[in-house]
Amino acid sequence: MSDPKKKILVLFGSPHKEGFTRQLAESFLAPFRDSGEWEVQEWDAYERQAKPCLGCGACQKAEACALHDLDGWDRALRDSDFLAVAAPVYNASFPAPVKAMLDRTQRYFEARFALGKKPSIAKHREAALLLTMGSEDEFALEVCSHQLGRAFSVMNTSLTGQAVWAATDRPEEHRTEALARARELGESCARSQPGKEGPRPLELRQVREESPEFPRVVELYREAFPQGERSSLVPLLEDETGGGEILSLWDGEVFAGMACLLRTQRLSHLIYFAVAPELRDRGLGSRALAAFRRRYPETPLVVDIERPWEGARNNGQRKRRKAFYLRAGFRETPVHYWWRGEPYELLSTGSLSQRDWETFWKTIRRESPQLSEY
Ligand SMILES: Cc1cc2nc3c(=O)[nH]c(=O)nc-3n(C[C@H](O)[C@H](O)[C@H](O)COP(=O)(O)O)c2cc1C
Repeated sequence: MSDPKKKILVLFGSPHKEGFTRQLAESFLAPFRDSGEWEVQEWDAYERQAKPCLGCGACQKAEACALHDLDGWDRALRDSDFLAVAAPVYNASFPAPVKAMLDRTQRYFEARFALGKKPSIAKHREAALLLTMGSEDEFALEVCSHQLGRAFSVMNTSLTGQAVWAATDRPEEHRTEALARARELGESCARSQPGKEGPRPLELRQVREESPEFPRVVELYREAFPQGERSSLVPLLEDETGGGEILSLWDGEVFAGMACLLRTQRLSHLIYFAVAPELRDRGLGSRALAAFRRRYPETPLVVDIERPWEGARNNGQRKRRKAFYLRAGFRETPVHYWWRGEPYELLSTGSLSQRDWETFWKTIRRESPQLSEY
């Protein structure tokens, strides 16, 4: 008989069995343990001491690693429904035993690119990063999530949430909020995973003018976005370059929403996204974001939102929208801009610099010029 429980695999990367990282991890895991629906399996990076990658190239020729100390990890990973990486920051990165494990994911990179296996791991999973650090080092967070994002892009794994306990050198300063945030993240991750009992994943379909749902997509687009924010959908509908697409969202056979995206090999940019009015406030938004991330597993997903500020007419809505994306694993980026007198900011599931953003638009203008008006 098959095991009815979903499996969360935890990569635990602190040498301290009862330190800050353990406390953060336990707050995150409590909802998984309490639900009775999850089996928690842990891999202690310090006890296991993975050998470092030798760069021997064996995984370019056969789908395996020449070293066998992580065979058990590989089996547990392929079988898992969720992955959590819990670690302290060491020198603005992961501690060496965790870094060794990340380097050993090269076998999945080679399976994908040298051996053409797509995806290199059959089952998809979401993942969360639980990070502690003595200081308040934004750069360390960027490094760690960037490293995970890269490795995960060839592991059919999407980093969809993170909880950070910063300034543990002054443990009381952020303890309560950090542990509460980790628990809240654990609650939403334990609930939202499509497992045997959970909601089915939303389906995405590319929309063309002849698609039967096209009129509903247009109607929702007009309802959800004021005229000043809308552009013609025609360039996206007619795109043949692969630089963008219009998607309809389906919960089974129920029309659940629409989205428009622009894409390059490095970024996917969600430019419009709306859930059908009768289905709002039912958790479809986060299921849709998970579906977008599954569709484009190899690139960070970027959204631009109206920046919250105290004088803004709809500041409450701006704050809620931003909190929604942050809960879903998006992070603040240094990229801000003004448009028609309103400040906007970009949030991304991976690292994003001003330069990356400019390169994205240069690529769109060069390869898909008809889409550069968006
Ligand atoms: C070798 C070493 C390097 C560290 N490097 C950093 C660092 O670059 N930035 C930082 O904010 N904290 C750094 N720290 C502090 C740890 O990240 C912090 O104390 C963490 O909360 C410890 O978690 P633990 O209790 O699970 O061990 C370092 C600690 C050690 C031992």
